[in-house]
Amino acid sequence: MTTNSDLVARTLSSVWHPCTQMKLHERLPMVPVSHGRGAWLYDFEGRRYLDAISSWWVNLFGHANPRINAAVVAQLERLEHVMLAGFTHEPAVRLAERLAALTGLGHCFFASDGSSAVEIALKMSHHFWRNSGRPQKSRFAYLAGAYHGETAGALSVGDVALFRDAYAPLLKSGLRVPSPDWRNARPGETALACARRCAEALDRLLSERHHEVAALIVEPLVQCASGMGMYDPEYLRLARALCDRYRVHLIADEIAVGFGRTGTFLACEQAGVRPDLLCLSKGITGGYLPLSVVLSTEDVYRAFYDGEVARGFLHSHSCTGNPLACAAALASLAIFEEDAVLEANRARAARLDQLARPIAQHARVRDFRRTGMIWAFEVEAAEPLFARRFAAAALEHELLLRPIGNTVYFMPPYVIDDEQSRLLAGRTLEVIERVP
Ligand SMILES: Cc1ncc(COP(=O)(O)O)c(C=O)c1O
Repeated sequence: MTTNSDLVARTLSSVWHPCTQMKLHERLPMVPVSHGRGAWLYDFEGRRYLDAISSWWVNLFGHANPRINAAVVAQLERLEHVMLAGFTHEPAVRLAERLAALTGLGHCFFASDGSSAVEIALKMSHHFWRNSGRPQKSRFAYLAGAYHGETAGALSVGDVALFRDAYAPLLKSGLRVPSPDWRNARPGETALACARRCAEALDRLLSERHHEVAALIVEPLVQCASGMGMYDPEYLRLARALCDRYRVHLIADEIAVGFGRTGTFLACEQAGVRPDLLCLSKGITGGYLPLSVVLSTEDVYRAFYDGEVARGFLHSHSCTGNPLACAAALASLAIFEEDAVLEANRARAARLDQLARPIAQHARVRDFRRTGMIWAFEVEAAEPLFARRFAAAALEHELLLRPIGNTVYFMPPYVIDDEQSRLLAGRTLEVIERVP
């Protein structure tokens, strides 16, 4: 029988874990997970952890959700996988149709992870301009503090030094513009004024460089990986107008913020804008299986539709559009509709707001903020290894939390109930008290 200590010893000698300096595990606990149910994860000895960050922001409807399980099992009995070049299958077509109806875009291009969706969007944008007789449009503008994934193209439009610096010689240089994250607002400046000032900077850049810029890529409303930086929708409205004026694509990376995270199905809806290219992943399958998609406008699609093969978009990944992943995604979308999830989340968020009030009022807490189902706040800390110490203390309090620097955040699955919310808020306060 597997035990906690047995599995930890074996993982440390056989698995190279992601986003991890492996040596740290000489001192930091590794958490073995035996199974999950709803918002809880369990180890092999009956200890439990409330998954308050949805396992890296992917899980929407809890672990081992009976409805998604049933859909994946049913699909498994019919077809586990077939290549999507030259072949098609019902789950991919149904999912593409549903996503088109929900987003107002179309021509769903499937891939596996978020980063591969970002690569696709960047390549598609440049290839569009090349097919349109403007091959010089090959650079990308991105926001300060941006994060779009770990592959070389995605890192080229990212601005998190820890992930980017070691690979700088491998990356293509992009054009960084100021972020409307209101934590960067000048003294006395509102979030709205901050958004407008940053849009003016974007205007200046595009007015000078638009002939070489293919696209602006943004994380709409919340820049998650740089510490849940939130901003006013006005920035997206102004960015859309500038992209139109200067003939630059707007790529919306809704990999983390799509599927209801910001309170609307897509974050872009809050600004009333439609991007030229939209990247979705993470919550798309309810967090079950790797799947991502890029949706595009008719205009983009038509630029590739041609008698010449090389003018087509020849990108591919082996497991693109996997039927099991598509079945999980369809089941997940059915839950959104059947359970009126966005509405239920509004009530859920209001309750957690109330329960978290003592956190917001704590003497060491700054900038307590929320967008939809994402809460974040900064904790003043004397401890230089605050994030690490906080995460370890949280585990001792049955909470899975992973601060980003001094930013603590909650991004719970949409099944968190009142009792679990009470536990999350109460225990987080205890952890703040414990970690200096
Ligand atoms: C906004 C955003 N884009 C892209 C990615 C990359 O997705 P993946 O980790 O699935 O490659 C992430 C991952 O956190 C993300 O938050």
